[in-house]
Amino acid sequence: MNRRNLILGGSAVALAAAGAYAVMRGPSYPDAAAGVWSRKSRQADDGLNYLVHNATLAANSHNTQPWLFSGTASQVSIRPDTSRATPVADPDNHHLFASLGAAAENLVLAAAADGRSAEVGFDPGAGGQIRIDLTETGGSRRDPLFEAITERQCTRSMYSRRDVPSAELAMLEAAARVEGCEVLLITRRPQIDAILELITSANAAQIADPHFVSELKSWLRFNAAHAIRTGDGLYSGCSGNPTLPSWLGSIAFGMAFTAKAENDKIIKQVGSSAGLAVIVSGGDDPAHWVRAGRSYQRFALAATSLGIRHAFLNQPLEVTAFRPELAALLGIGQKRPDLLVRFGYAEPMPRSLRRPVSDVIVNA
Ligand SMILES: Cc1cc2nc3c(=O)[nH]c(=O)nc-3n(C[C@H](O)[C@H](O)[C@H](O)COP(=O)(O)O)c2cc1C
Repeated sequence: MNRRNLILGGSAVALAAAGAYAVMRGPSYPDAAAGVWSRKSRQADDGLNYLVHNATLAANSHNTQPWLFSGTASQVSIRPDTSRATPVADPDNHHLFASLGAAAENLVLAAAADGRSAEVGFDPGAGGQIRIDLTETGGSRRDPLFEAITERQCTRSMYSRRDVPSAELAMLEAAARVEGCEVLLITRRPQIDAILELITSANAAQIADPHFVSELKSWLRFNAAHAIRTGDGLYSGCSGNPTLPSWLGSIAFGMAFTAKAENDKIIKQVGSSAGLAVIVSGGDDPAHWVRAGRSYQRFALAATSLGIRHAFLNQPLEVTAFRPELAALLGIGQKRPDLLVRFGYAEPMPRSLRRPVSDVIVNA
């Protein structure tokens, strides 16, 4: 064998070895994310899979994906997967039901694109569940909000400080209007700064609670391999944080996750945003929390379709002691503010993952 053949032969062996290693390691993070977020068209016999795929692309607290779907392509139930609740951050399951509501909204939009109208109801019995009745309409309705389902993300980066035009603010308000819910948009700096003070104070209170930190840590995924293995949780790369082996990530998180560091970041993030949005529903029970989730998801999809990014800052809603002060600043009386996000303009970040649809569809 001459030298050239030896090199070529060696390269082929190296390529084969690299290929085998890649197969053993599974898909790269970008490939895994692209698989999750690709638009899947409905196949003749998988109406329920199509609906659930779209539903699972909704935002959900800590990306625990706390949902179980059952039914058929004409009647779907969504109920909580309580094994995926976050009892410290969300002791009354408010965020859990809001996450189910966000999923329901995506499902309704996907059904409309597939020629079905939806009636959404809430059954408070047996732990509470959403029931969606679907009826053939004979015509597909591709709402721009539906088109945004595969593009929406929570973007936890710095934004560009650019203001959102008032016509687009009005479009966001209109899109988020769900029966019994409204979104309040705050774009004046003094009011933003007053709310920011509550966010940072509540954030410091959460970080001082070791139970909160340990629950959060259990949903952090410090590297792509861990995120891909579980298909859930908060992958550090999505927030622009370094990816590290799990053992090192755990140590680094313990050292870097301080109230001061996080609050410094939040102050800069809010300063770079065009405004804050608060979803407020008319009641404080699971049926209204579901509505708040639907309203948020519609806000987020409308924002996405206008090129506007957003990320949650729920701290003053999660620490109950701060809720009345926030309600007073918003002028909403005794109502409970449900969800709080900042919004503005930024480049997209890496996408979060989801578990396969087959993991969340169960027999009734
Ligand atoms: C009810 C609810 C509460 C949330 N709370 C927060 C929060 O306080 N902070 C945060 O950064 N993200 C929060 N999120 C966003 C989720 O972490 C995010 O949706 C999830 O990681 C999936 O990422 P994606 O929305 O980019 O697909 C919340 C989402 C929902 C639906």
